[in-house]
Amino acid sequence: MTTRFPDKFLWGCATSAYQIEGAPFADGKGASIWDRFVNTPGMVNNGDTGHVACDHYNRFREDVALMKQLGMQAYRFSLSWARILPNGIGEINPLGVKFYSDLIDECLKNGIEPIVTLYHWDMPAALDDMGGWLNRDCANWFAEYAEVVFKAYDGRVKKWATLNEPWVVTDGGYLHGALAPGHRNKYEAPIASHNIMRAHGAAVKVYRQIGKHEIGLVVNIEPKYPASDKAEDIAATKRAHAYMNEQYLHPAMLGHYPAEMTDIFDDAWPVWAQEDYDLIRQKIDFLGVNYYTRSVTRHESYANSDVTEVVGGVAFHKAPSWPLRATRVIQRGATYTETGWEVFEQGLFDTLKWVKDTYGDIPLYITENGAAFFDPPRASNGRVRDPLRTDYLQRHLSAIHKAIAAGVNVQGYMVWSFMDNLEWSLGFSKRFGIVHVDFETLDRTPKDSARYYSKVIATHGEVLSEPL
Ligand code: BGC
Repeated sequence: MTTRFPDKFLWGCATSAYQIEGAPFADGKGASIWDRFVNTPGMVNNGDTGHVACDHYNRFREDVALMKQLGMQAYRFSLSWARILPNGIGEINPLGVKFYSDLIDECLKNGIEPIVTLYHWDMPAALDDMGGWLNRDCANWFAEYAEVVFKAYDGRVKKWATLNEPWVVTDGGYLHGALAPGHRNKYEAPIASHNIMRAHGAAVKVYRQIGKHEIGLVVNIEPKYPASDKAEDIAATKRAHAYMNEQYLHPAMLGHYPAEMTDIFDDAWPVWAQEDYDLIRQKIDFLGVNYYTRSVTRHESYANSDVTEVVGGVAFHKAPSWPLRATRVIQRGATYTETGWEVFEQGLFDTLKWVKDTYGDIPLYITENGAAFFDPPRASNGRVRDPLRTDYLQRHLSAIHKAIAAGVNVQGYMVWSFMDNLEWSLGFSKRFGIVHVDFETLDRTPKDSARYYSKVIATHGEVLSEPL
């Protein structure tokens, strides 16, 4: 069977501002919650920070040139809110506006479509001081910021995303504390989730008044499969699916939350006003799906929730089961990435089908997909051999092709990530790039997976049917 993708399929790569830019206080930028978080001892592996990261702020022209050389047709990046509005609201920083304007021009000059995300986790610290996503005013703050950037760039940017992965923002930032702003509070998490979705709705409303192109929402979907047919495992699987996947898509697309939310959060789950649901549910033009792995799920009460599970002498990190009462079961014999995620491409196919069947025939983009694997050092001939990442890409791209053949409207794919970068609280220890970055010299070297992805693009996917 041919693996040729439709001619109009958009091939690209993705990054986010804090993970690559560096220059945290250059040219009038304000502090973000990540600037603070990395300076809090113990929060980021090895004490790593994004102070320099990949220095994309100064090297973006070189990076865009490399994207062009690899054949990229699109570049998905995020804006640092605090570069544009150092205090989050109020005063606009012209040099911050100019930075992204130059980046957008550089993309266009090289025939690369910019896809712009407004929020990839780096809230201006000044707004966090006012409660961040816990403050209902955040919807107005976000709308103010959105208006500034839509006015500045919509003439040149044709695809916008409001949020990247609201689930991670609140699960990591407000429930388990592993990500900025580092709160661990069951009572805050539902409020932060609800407010960030109100902010999404408010930004889409602004876009409908002044924008001329397309706007969507990017979510991470991790399909859940029950570990057994026991009733308690099936119920745990439903809770996990509602919590991670439906909690954001249901209100955005259907105007309500999944029924399981009260079971999960108990007295911490508020009753929301109808006007909030009306704000959250705005017509959007596409959905961005980030897919990395699946979870085989079983019931687990809070009391037994260790954070690691040892299988075959290897300690696997488990997602904390509180307050879900569900956990992930490690699959013997499966391949795991360096972040402990099972390689399971069927889950991407199942996810795409599920999105279509549940939310209708909205255009979909894979806005992130990729893997952290241990990469050997760069060889003297300049090659970085990363066969597992190439294999990961081949499997997942083939699954997307299968989904398109089954009638799912997938219009593009952005590999995560263009280059190795700061993997949030894991620091530089985990490399997701198809381009290797030497964090001493900041040299960029395309890995074998980048060469492979280039061929995929050049052959419209036909090379996927050949053995690796
Ligand atoms: C995020 C990225 C992150 C990647 C790998 C996604 O959840 O959007 O910022 O680097 O996963 O963990």
